[in-house]
Amino acid sequence: MNDSRIIVALDYPTKSLAMEFVDKVDPGLCKLKVGKQLFTGCGPDIVESLVNKGFDVFLDLKFHDIPNTVYEACKSAVNLGVWMLNIHAIGGKEMLCAARQAVPADGSKHLLIAVTVLTSTSDQDLKDFGISYSAVDMVMKLAQMTADAGLDGVVCSAHETVQLRQTFGKEFYLITPGIRPADINADDQKRIKTPSEAILSGSNFLVIGRPVTQSNDPVATLIAIKDEIESVLN
Ligand code: C5P
Repeated sequence: MNDSRIIVALDYPTKSLAMEFVDKVDPGLCKLKVGKQLFTGCGPDIVESLVNKGFDVFLDLKFHDIPNTVYEACKSAVNLGVWMLNIHAIGGKEMLCAARQAVPADGSKHLLIAVTVLTSTSDQDLKDFGISYSAVDMVMKLAQMTADAGLDGVVCSAHETVQLRQTFGKEFYLITPGIRPADINADDQKRIKTPSEAILSGSNFLVIGRPVTQSNDPVATLIAIKDEIESVLN
């Protein structure tokens, strides 16, 4: 595993567009995330290509299904050589435990992470679903289920990381999308923080898509974010 704290979301429609960006960056600069758009458009070959180039790959397919189906899907993901994969915590305890069985807890070789509440979901959205918890309370509840099932950590927003870190300790991975540099708009994300705020509040890895991929100069933007992170780490 390289030591970069940035995971770039390769949300591109085709392999050639994704590789146009990938060919300009080094595995030491960032990790890469393959999500639903790229995976559905290109298939699993894209993951193997990125792994063969030396990148740590986060397969962000957010599995949520019956326990047996999730177990088998997680096994297939591990066979692709991914560094990290995720499932939805809302799938419940039995599904979380089935996933853990499929992905052995072997240190940092394959990290199994559960999505709590999407960073595009607000307190009002939860109310509209009929859920009386606030986003932070819902995240804490789902994180507890995730920890009880022995998973390696959660996807959350950087608004919840301080409380999560206090409750679950420093070994529990906190992965935060919803990252926006100060001068960039939120798009559809609602619970956002800047890269330095997210790092200072305890995030292990920042997932960043459009601020980089839709920049006029994606590599320069990525390096600027890396510098911002390093300035607060030092
Ligand atoms: O473009 P942007 O930086 O908003 O991209 C965020 C990425 O992180 C997207 O690929 C999205 O699917 C993913 N993600 C998220 N919220 C989560 C889990 C994953 O935004 N809770």
